[in-house]
Amino acid sequence: MTNEVQKALITGASNGIGRFLTEKLLNEGIHVIAVTRSGEIENYSHPNLTVVQGDISDEASINKAIEQIGQTSNQIDYLINNAGVGPDLGDDVPTADHLKTSFSVNTTGTVLFTEGVLNYLKDGAHVVFLSTAMALLRNAGPNGTAYRMSKAAINMYAVILAQRLAVRGIRVTPLHPGWVQTRMGGENAPVTVEQSVTGIYQALTENTESGKFWNIEVEGLEEY
Ligand SMILES: NC(=O)c1ccc[n+]([C@@H]2O[C@H](COP(=O)([O-])OP(=O)(O)OC[C@H]3O[C@@H](n4cnc5c(N)ncnc54)[C@H](OP(=O)(O)O)[C@@H]3O)[C@@H](O)[C@H]2O)c1
Repeated sequence: MTNEVQKALITGASNGIGRFLTEKLLNEGIHVIAVTRSGEIENYSHPNLTVVQGDISDEASINKAIEQIGQTSNQIDYLINNAGVGPDLGDDVPTADHLKTSFSVNTTGTVLFTEGVLNYLKDGAHVVFLSTAMALLRNAGPNGTAYRMSKAAINMYAVILAQRLAVRGIRVTPLHPGWVQTRMGGENAPVTVEQSVTGIYQALTENTESGKFWNIEVEGLEEY
C-alpha cells in the first residue's frame, strides 16, 4: 500500500499567516500550491511548492489562476482561503472605498475562487476560511465595519457551502486565527504567527465540525 502525498492550496501566501502556513505544510510533507499576487514568494522556494499568480480581488486573474491550478493539480486535500485585507481596522465610519476593497478580496473574490476550484478538491477534503472573531454577531463593535461585514458574509458562505458539500464528505471551517503579529494584526498582537499557524494546522488536520466556527485562541467551537 502506498502512502499518498497530501496536497494543499492556499491563497495570500506571500506574507503573514499564509507565508508561515505554507512553510509549515511543506515541512509536514504536504505539497503546496500557493497563490500570490506577484506569482512568487520572496526569498523562498521548495521542491514541493508551486506558486501561481493570482489577484483575489480581480475576476479575470482569479479565472486565470484557477485554470493554471487545474493544469497543475487536482485531488486537493486542503483549500485554505487566507488572502484578506482590513483597510478600515480602527476606523469608525465605513467609506465606499473600504467597503469595495474589503468585499472584493474577503468576500467576492474568495467565493469566486472557492467555487472555481471545488472540482479539484478530493471527496473528504477540508475547506478553511481565515475569518475573524470580530465578525461574530455577538462581538459587533463600532470600528472596522467593512472588514467585519465582509468576514461575516464569508461565515454565512461557509455554512452554505458546508451544507452543499456534505454529500462529498467535504468539511468547511471558518476560523479565527487569533489576534496575530502580522502586517494586519500589528506588533501589539498577543499571538505569534508560529502559535497561530500551529493552531490552524491542528484545526486543518483534526476533526472540526463542518459549518461551525472554530477559534484557535480557545481551541474550540464558537457560536456565530
Ligand atoms: N492578523 C490577525 O490578527 C488576524 C485576525 C483575524 C483574521 N485574520 C485573517 O487572516 C488572514 C491573513 O491575515 P494576515 O494577518 O496574515 O495579514 P497580512 O500579513 O496582511 O497578509 C495578508 C495576505 O493576503 C494577501 N492578499 C491581500 N490582498 C490580496 C489579493 N487581492 N490577492 C491575493 N492575495 C492578497 C497579501 O498579499 P500581499 O503580500 O501581496 O499584500 C498577504 O499575503 C486574513 O484573511 C485576515 O483577515 C488575521
